Parts: sequence; structure tokens; C-alpha cells
Amino acid sequence: MSDTSDHNKTHPPAKDVDHDGCASPPCLLGELDPVWQGGMDRDEIINLLNTLLEAERAGARGLTTMASEYEGDLQRELKTLALDEARWCAMLSTHIKRIGGTPTSVTGSFLEKLLAKPTLAARLSLLDRGQGWVVAKLEESLPRIFDAALQRDLTEMRDGHRGNIARAARLAS
Ligand SMILES: [Fe+2]
Repeated sequence: MSDTSDHNKTHPPAKDVDHDGCASPPCLLGELDPVWQGGMDRDEIINLLNTLLEAERAGARGLTTMASEYEGDLQRELKTLALDEARWCAMLSTHIKRIGGTPTSVTGSFLEKLLAKPTLAARLSLLDRGQGWVVAKLEESLPRIFDAALQRDLTEMRDGHRGNIARAARLAS
């Protein structure tokens, strides 16, 4: 015969369970490892951030070089874009270190491809594609990142890139 008094020592009576307050198992998923919910694990996040860091470094260096080749408003705009890329590099490095990874020192091949373009229009066109790639990569990745601080900064980076695509388009026109 079961002893209900013992049972109740470890299991509260059903009437005490607050279903509205979400005591059901699905609600406890939030306390599980993000990977169980389709989130990226630490290594996947570090790989993603380092991939972005390589690309941003290439963008920052490419834009800095381009800015040195022009004057006036165009130079100012290119410098602004370069500073943004450098800011993302710093943000990405900070997060990589925070979660225990090592920021890559590699500069993406985008730099060579960019500077090999013979005209400003061709460079701006490639920059546009590069910025678009970053936006797409972030759009694809953000739903799988549950680290709130990282999600906030990567969202800002995505929105910043959208703004810079529009900015570069104005330069090209
Ligand atoms: Fe970028």
C-alpha cells in the first residue's frame, strides 16, 4: 500500500502546482542548455564570431586604404564606414574573449579582392555585397543565439550594416 504522506514530502499536492505560473515541463526548457532548444553551442558561436571578425577586419582595412586614396566628402564617408567596421571588430573580439575563445588575427580574403578592383564603383559594389553577406549571416544566426548581451550587439551590428549599405549606395550614385 502506498504511503501518500511520504509521497507528499517530495511531491506537492496537485492543487499547489501553479499551472498558470508555468510549472509544466515545457516551461523548464528555458533553463536547459541552449543547444537543446536549437541554439548554437559555444564552439559554434566562437566560429561564427571569428568568421565575422575576419570579414570585418578586411572591411576596416580595405575602407581605410580607400579613404587614403580620396579626399573631401568621399574620404569622410569612407572613414566613417571604416570606423564602423573597426568598432564591430572590437565588439566581436570582446565577446569571443568573454566566452572563452581566442579572437582570430586573420584578415579575410575580402581585403585583397576589394583592393584589386580597379574603380571606385567596382569597390563600392563589392563592399555592398560584403555588407549584404554580413546581414544575411546575422539574420540566419541570431535566432540561434540565446546569449542576451551577444544577441543585442549582433542585432546592432546587423542594423548598422543595413544603414551602411544605404550609405555606400549613396556614395555610388
Ligand atoms: Fe562589415
